[in-house]
Amino acid sequence: MTTPSSTATGKTQKYSLLIGVVVALAASACIFLVLFSRGHFRADPYIKSTLNLDGSLNKGSRLFRINCAGCHGISAQGLLGPNLHQVSERLNDTQIIRQVIEGRTPPMPSFKMEPQTMADLLKYLHSIN
Ligand code: HEC
Repeated sequence: MTTPSSTATGKTQKYSLLIGVVVALAASACIFLVLFSRGHFRADPYIKSTLNLDGSLNKGSRLFRINCAGCHGISAQGLLGPNLHQVSERLNDTQIIRQVIEGRTPPMPSFKMEPQTMADLLKYLHSIN
């Protein structure tokens, strides 16, 4: 037998459950939108075209000496920036490209370069494993 008061409590509990579910859904939708707008679920066209290109080891190592050696060392042995030998075992190509173009870890600047130039650099970074 349910008394009127216990029925009211049951209803309140149902409503708070419903409100909880709605709030949780709204929160996940917000998180999804933020991640989506930051490109987490998009196949970045820059990264895609870089990965489709064949890099030149020669050009890549020259580019490295000009742009990166000041911080990472002339043979990428590490200086102000970390040693980059075996970097492709720690990071996948997409992560390496992001590291170079996004500038999210100061003092390392963001580098704006053509996909072909990035592909050349990537070739060099693969070669120093
Ligand atoms: C002004 C100094 C500076 C220059 C120039 C620089 N870097 Fe860096 N780099 C850093 C620092 C410092 C870090 C460490 C960032 C961190 O994780 O906080 C880093 C991290 C990295 C990483 C990630 C290493 C890891 O193990 O996570 C890669 C890859 C990298 N740099 C590549 C490059 C390449 C390629 C260039 C040239 C196009 C370059 N860097 C130029 C300072 C520099």
